Amino acid sequence: MENINWTELSFGYMKTDYNIRCYYRNGKWGEPEISDSEMIPLHMAATCLHYGQEAFEGLKAFKGKDGKVRIFRMRENALRLQASCRGILMSELPVEVFEKAVVEAVKRNQRFVPPYESGASLYIRPLLIGTGAQVGVKPASEYLFVVFVTPVGPYFKEGFKPTPYAIIRGYDRAAPLGTGTFKVGGNYAASLVPGEIAHSKGYSAVLYLDAREKKYIDECGPANFFGIKNNTYITPESVSILPSITNKSLMVLAEELGMKVERRQVPVEELATFEEAGACGTAAVISPVLRIDDLDENKSYVFSKDGQAGPVSIRLYNKLRAIQYGDEPDKYGWITLVE
Ligand code: PLP
Ligand code: COI
Repeated sequence: MENINWTELSFGYMKTDYNIRCYYRNGKWGEPEISDSEMIPLHMAATCLHYGQEAFEGLKAFKGKDGKVRIFRMRENALRLQASCRGILMSELPVEVFEKAVVEAVKRNQRFVPPYESGASLYIRPLLIGTGAQVGVKPASEYLFVVFVTPVGPYFKEGFKPTPYAIIRGYDRAAPLGTGTFKVGGNYAASLVPGEIAHSKGYSAVLYLDAREKKYIDECGPANFFGIKNNTYITPESVSILPSITNKSLMVLAEELGMKVERRQVPVEELATFEEAGACGTAAVISPVLRIDDLDENKSYVFSKDGQAGPVSIRLYNKLRAIQYGDEPDKYGWITLVE
């Protein structure tokens, strides 16, 4: 066994023992197969390489105090992958096949699920690509679904410590009637340049505005956005953001904590009224926002004066993590136990 320093893990790739693969050929999906190779043999004319027929997912498995491994809201990821497939004309993977492959990937790599005490988790990355050859712009007739896993720590190295974000109007990650609601590689390609600009200036990520009017908050590069004021959890509604499963979960938990929940357009100026703000996602969990600098308007919105997360973000974070690690009962049916 490798000597893994579980508490020092960052959000990166580590080779694990097995991955699961499933092929779509002759009009149907085959059974999941186990592989110990990190490589994919690929036709040079595969549509994933030329025309972006690629969608992925991200979910996590957690080891509880009881030693049991729990996967969080796997079915939601299976359904979102199907939506992504419809969005870029790839063959939809049946939910049951997705779930079987994810569970198998976790089971075969149990030794990589970080211990409870580390606060780390096993990141699960399902990937679906067009493998069939085409030269004209057309969908492939063959697809490959792969699930690999890798143990991870926090997405932003500061973890739950608030960090700064930047509004930069010169770039969009997705168009209003484009692919922003799907988890497809092209959206992330479009976010690389603005992302690097933000990083080089010391920001964790870009906070995108709606592409049409640049009036409303959309989301962060790798996560949704929420603000807190007057005991209300407020998160943007938009045609160009990814429907985050973490955000959906936090809305339920906010209500459970007695808060109001609003999903609606959020004008940029409203940032000035939020008591707390956060980025949320599978990788980001809740990453509290320290400050948002609007680089075009030379304005700053500050959410943490002492450099610590606010009380509502702390409560939401603790509640979400407690369910994920099995410290609290799974009353919403969000957990799949890996036997
Ligand atoms: N928004 C974007 C662009 C993302 O890549 C992600 C990550 O999956 C999210 C939001 C958060 O979604 P989820 O909570 O389902 O991980
Ligand atoms: C996730 O949160 O799972 C993501 O996919 C975000 C990012 C790593 C792309």
